[in-house]
Amino acid sequence: MSIALEDLFKQVENLSPLPALPTSIVEVIALTKDSETSAKELRRVIEQDPVLAASILRQANSSYYGYARRIATLQEAIVVLGFQAIQGLAMSSAVAPLLKTKLLGYEIEQEGLWKHSLLTAIAAKRLCKHRKLPFGDVAFTAGLLHDIGKLIASIYIQKFGRHLLKEVTESKLSYAECEENVIGFDHARVGGFIARSWNLPDDLVAAISFHHSLRSPQEYAELSSVIHLANGIASLLGIGGGVDSAFNPIQQEAIDLLNIKESDIEHLMTGLGELQDYTH
Ligand SMILES: [Fe+2]
Ligand SMILES: [Fe+2]
Repeated sequence: MSIALEDLFKQVENLSPLPALPTSIVEVIALTKDSETSAKELRRVIEQDPVLAASILRQANSSYYGYARRIATLQEAIVVLGFQAIQGLAMSSAVAPLLKTKLLGYEIEQEGLWKHSLLTAIAAKRLCKHRKLPFGDVAFTAGLLHDIGKLIASIYIQKFGRHLLKEVTESKLSYAECEENVIGFDHARVGGFIARSWNLPDDLVAAISFHHSLRSPQEYAELSSVIHLANGIASLLGIGGGVDSAFNPIQQEAIDLLNIKESDIEHLMTGLGELQDYTH
């Protein structure tokens, strides 16, 4: 039953081609990855897409983003928030419509995956602040994108889901491990594949690919653990996570690596479930 990832993508292309990113977003990714880029260059590219510019400003001023001061202009957003944050807000604007679709395989309602992803992003950013980790903005973007692979994997879960659930309940394995056993890949790996095809930076690709496999040795283990834990926290809220949420528990590896206590998790969850503002 195992399917090679390359074959999978050939099949999926026929079934449901994944939309390409808008040109303006592709340019924003390239510019924000390049340390030579000036704030002015980045502003010019964003300004050419008024919908993107408005979305970045709206998000920068939304309650979930947690920036205390009002940001009035795009220039101010770029200078005050920085390139990493702008990359994340641009990605969020691009993927929100994708994440708002209903995913039958995972039993995720319309908008469910978007809410779960945004909660994961906020929890990841909060976790970095709490543990004084320097990559809060990257963690926010990785949190938003972590389950992007579900868009494709859902088609297969729809086919093999019953078999998979049986394996989960009969074994001591997580849902993600059972995805790998039954279908040949887990949604995290598919997500990493998509992220790479979008030319996203290596840290994002790794965090998405390994958010359920913390034992795999790789360069960005700390960031992957942050996303794993943030996903676990968002899943505990029971908002939009899908059928797999209950079967992908928080792994001890992440708790140990980040030196997290139960009281930290409670602290990070405070107020998260009451979030009403899901603007993008
Ligand atoms: Fe996941
Ligand atoms: Fe998730």
